[in-house]
Amino acid sequence: MSGVEAFSAVEVIAAKRDRHELSDPQIDWIIDAYTRGAVADEQMSALLMAILLNGMNSHEISRWTDAMIKSGERMNWSMLDRPTVDKHSTGGVGDKITLPLAPLVAACGGAVPQLSGRGLGHTGGTLDKLESIPGWRASLSNDEMLAVLKDCGAVICAAGAGLAPADKKLYALRDVTATVEAIPLIASSIMSKKIAEGTAALVLDVKTGGGAFMSDPDRARELARTMVNLGKRAGVNTRALVTAMDVPLGLTAGNALEVRESVEVLAGGGPADIVELTLILAREMLDAAGIRGKDPETALRDGSAMDTWRRMIKAQGGDPDAALPVAKESVVVSAEASGTMLSMDAMKVGVATWRLGAGRSRQGETVQAGAGIEIHNKPGEEVTKGSPIYTLHTDTPERFARALEILTNSVVIGPMPASGKVERLPLIVDRIVD
Ligand code: URA
Repeated sequence: MSGVEAFSAVEVIAAKRDRHELSDPQIDWIIDAYTRGAVADEQMSALLMAILLNGMNSHEISRWTDAMIKSGERMNWSMLDRPTVDKHSTGGVGDKITLPLAPLVAACGGAVPQLSGRGLGHTGGTLDKLESIPGWRASLSNDEMLAVLKDCGAVICAAGAGLAPADKKLYALRDVTATVEAIPLIASSIMSKKIAEGTAALVLDVKTGGGAFMSDPDRARELARTMVNLGKRAGVNTRALVTAMDVPLGLTAGNALEVRESVEVLAGGGPADIVELTLILAREMLDAAGIRGKDPETALRDGSAMDTWRRMIKAQGGDPDAALPVAKESVVVSAEASGTMLSMDAMKVGVATWRLGAGRSRQGETVQAGAGIEIHNKPGEEVTKGSPIYTLHTDTPERFARALEILTNSVVIGPMPASGKVERLPLIVDRIVD
């Protein structure tokens, strides 16, 4: 450390430990000093834990987010002749919605500058999914990103090192200090990147239920409200949907399997829940962007969304016609009884997918493109003893045992409830616009 610092990290930590509001200069300083290495990891860890335990008010969260944005570049798309609009999902099992959604919204007149991440833990990452397409490249320069956006109306690529570098350091530290779960820290982490990305409008898909980061719907609502507030304060037209993640989305989890399902949606087919959520989010995005008179359902039916997808994949070196990787080995899991499927544990399916090799446990690990799970029946459907429930895929069969272990009791089969309906969260749990 060199030079005279404006504050002492110990004083800032003590202030939050004692439940005081942090001042604007304290927040600006600690984020800047931590990013340039003048505050040690152990000091920031203590502050993060104090924030997790004692919280931050809305002014502190907003200032903290601004300081994170200012730690790096803020992108600007004002040269485009279409309104920019993006979507962010807090992540769930089988959540491949970005793949059909970005080209669909572009086909309806939006410009979608989507900076995405890789998966960590039980939820998959959009870039990992797209990288299963032979030749497709996630890393683009800002000029390349602009060229793809101008040509195709949508670009999905990796966030460069210049975007909210404070978040990169903070997120890595939170991961190893049990401080990921704090709403002020999650909200500022997500929104600093989305605001720095330069989109004019944003729709947040905040997942809730057993397979989500925020299993409790009230906590998911609070996170959604906090993020909508941050977006609005920064001049981004932001709204949020709180959506169901008690059951996996669609019928696949795993990288290439999810690309295949997304292409089915773009071809006018695909599972009903994926199609429904894609259309709901597309309408919300078009509305937030002020684009009127375009029907996303027509763009799925008339092939224009598929044309945009193909152009977008080609523009990033991918071959939309190439065969997707298929795992070398597979195992079928069958129903142990006949009856109605009453539930399917999304978290267990997510963890099994990860254990099969589709996800990573540490930053930088490689993932298997073909690994994952195909789901043959969903809750509410009738199954017969011995009929297939899941097909598991991996290149490394020694992974099957641990995946099968977590899938034990992941579905409940029994008689149809007297109500004639299986209890599930509604697809859209809540909508938060202000
Ligand atoms: N995703 C992020 O980018 N940040 C978080 O804190 C949690 C999820």
